[in-house]
Amino acid sequence: MKLEQRYEGKAKKVYATENPHEYVVEYKDDATAFNGVKKAQIQGKGEINNAITAHLFPLLERAGIPTHFLEKLGDREQRVRAVEIIPVEVIVRNVAAGSFSKRLGIEEGTPLARPVVEYCYKSDALGDPLINTDTAVALGWAGEDELRRIRELALNIRDFLVPYFAERGIRLIDFKLEFGRTHDGTVVLADEISPDTCRFWDAQTNEKMDKDRFRRDLGGVEDAYAEMLRRVTAPAEG
Ligand code: C5P
Repeated sequence: MKLEQRYEGKAKKVYATENPHEYVVEYKDDATAFNGVKKAQIQGKGEINNAITAHLFPLLERAGIPTHFLEKLGDREQRVRAVEIIPVEVIVRNVAAGSFSKRLGIEEGTPLARPVVEYCYKSDALGDPLINTDTAVALGWAGEDELRRIRELALNIRDFLVPYFAERGIRLIDFKLEFGRTHDGTVVLADEISPDTCRFWDAQTNEKMDKDRFRRDLGGVEDAYAEMLRRVTAPAEG
């Protein structure tokens, strides 16, 4: 099934398959933070992030969001549509945290009056710098129509995920998305949605249940990831 490796990122590998329109994605336990300066393994992370993404992407499809996901193959692998990744990372924020809080001097946990969509250039070498959509168009990374579509999809994804997680006792603080183009130019959600790419706070205690436990040396990283898989796949509360 898997042919040659097409790409290796910090958390995943992508392989070609016999079908030119499909790839296999393999999730790794490797974790990095601060642009690769901090490195470690999070035991079981690959399996958990594969399972969480493989649970959420079909739900998003049903909610009208086109994604690259086709099927979960094994503990660490999924079959996906082959896409060309658009090198613009899209961050959606509901509550101030992380780089937003730092850059603007806004206390973490401050609710935002409306969702904020931010764009970064996907470049490990440069540390994913913040850009705006004019920059992405001027440098040929995405077209204006594509960026309009990406923003619309990102906000629709938020509108699906916020109540989905709320019903499972989780506050979705912010999250990062990546989009790709299929062979016919359709823009689809790619990459993953997991504790690596989202901030999840427990609704009762505000305890962090995501990669910030690793970034900030809070301990209990594996347990938090396992608990997030349990909650994501649990039926809605109440
Ligand atoms: O660090 P920052 O506050 O900009 O992160 C915003 C959100 O995007 C967080 O949920 C973080 O996990 C995610 N993110 C990511 N990959 C990056 C940068 C941020 O998944 N390269």
